[in-house]
Amino acid sequence: MFTVDLRSDTVTRPTNAMRKAMMDSPVGDDVLGDDPTVIKLERMMAERFGTDSSMFCVSGTQANQIALMSHLSPGDEVICHPYAHIYNYEGGGIAANAHASVAFTGDPRGIMHPDGVLSCIKADDIHFPRTRLLAVENTSNKGGGTCYEWEEIEALRSVAASNGLTFHLDGARLYNALVEKGHHESDYGAAFDSISICLSKGLGAPIGSVLLGSSEFIEHARRIRKRIGGGWRQAGFLAGAAIYAVENNIGRLAIDHGAAKDMAVFLAQLPMIESVVPPETNVLIFKLQDDLDQDGFIKHLAEKGIGISQMGPGKCRMVFHLDISPNGIIHVKNTLSKF
Ligand SMILES: Cc1ncc(COP(=O)(O)O)c(C=O)c1O
Repeated sequence: MFTVDLRSDTVTRPTNAMRKAMMDSPVGDDVLGDDPTVIKLERMMAERFGTDSSMFCVSGTQANQIALMSHLSPGDEVICHPYAHIYNYEGGGIAANAHASVAFTGDPRGIMHPDGVLSCIKADDIHFPRTRLLAVENTSNKGGGTCYEWEEIEALRSVAASNGLTFHLDGARLYNALVEKGHHESDYGAAFDSISICLSKGLGAPIGSVLLGSSEFIEHARRIRKRIGGGWRQAGFLAGAAIYAVENNIGRLAIDHGAAKDMAVFLAQLPMIESVVPPETNVLIFKLQDDLDQDGFIKHLAEKGIGISQMGPGKCRMVFHLDISPNGIIHVKNTLSKF
C-alpha cells in the first residue's frame, strides 16, 4: 500500500461524507428501470450536458466500448489518436467488440487536427473500410493530460459533420478540461453525438462512468450494456457516490492541476530527469535520463511509499488527485532530492 499514490487518479477512496451519501441512497432494481438514485444521476448528468439522456455504466471502458458497438458495424473504421485509450488500453475492444479498424492521426501532445482527420477519411470504395466515427479524447491521458481548445473541438466537429462521421468523446477526464479551460458542459453536449465521462477518476467516486447522448442512442446503448452483462441491480449505492462526486468535487480539480504544475517545475531541475511534458491538468509525464534504470527508480520510490507508473521506456507518470496531501507532496520532493 502506498502512502502517496500517484499511479493514477483511479486510486482514490470514498471519504466519510461520500460513504454516508452512498448508504443514504434509496435503491431499486436498475435493470427494471426503478433505481431512484440511478435515475437521479442519469437525469442530472443529461441536464448538465443538455443531452436527451444518459446511462450509468460500470467503467469508462464499458461506456466507450458500448458507444463503439452502437456507432459501428463490422468493417467500419474509427479515426482516433495513436495514444487513444480506446485503442491502447481497452483490450483490443475496437476489434473484438465493434469489429472495426482504426486510422490514426494527431500530434505528440495527444491532440488531433482537422487536416490529419481529413487525410484519414477513406473514399467510398469497396476495397476500403468505411470511415464512420471520429473519436476524440479530452483530456488526453497518454498525451500528458492535455486539453483541446474549444475552437479545435468545433473544427473537428465540422469535419465530422461534413463527412458524415459520428463524433464520440472519451471524456474520462473531461471535467479536468472543463475546469482548466473554463469550458461548458452544455457546449460539449451539443457538439458530440456521444460522450463518456468517468466519475471514478479525479472526481473521486469508487466506481462508475456515464454515457451521454440522444434518447435513441441511449436506448440502443442500454440494450448493448445488458447484452454484455452490464445490467446492474441496486446500483443506486454507487450512483449516490457519483452524485456526491459531481456535487462536491469538480471545483477542487484546480488544486490537482496546480500540484502537477508545481511538481513539473521541481522535476525539471533534477539531474536524473531528461525532460518533463508541461502539464495542463492533473497528469504529469516525464522522461528519465537514458542511463537510469527505470524499474529501479520506480521500485525505489515504492519502497518509500510512493507509487508512480510507467508510460513506456524511460517515461514515467504521476497523476494528482484528491487523496494527495500537501505533506505527501513534500515527501515525494524530499525523496526525489535524495535519490
Ligand atoms: C482516457 C481514458 N479513457 C477511458 C478510461 C477507462 O476508464 P476505466 O478504467 O473506468 O475503464 C481511462 C482510464 O484510465 C482513461 O484514462
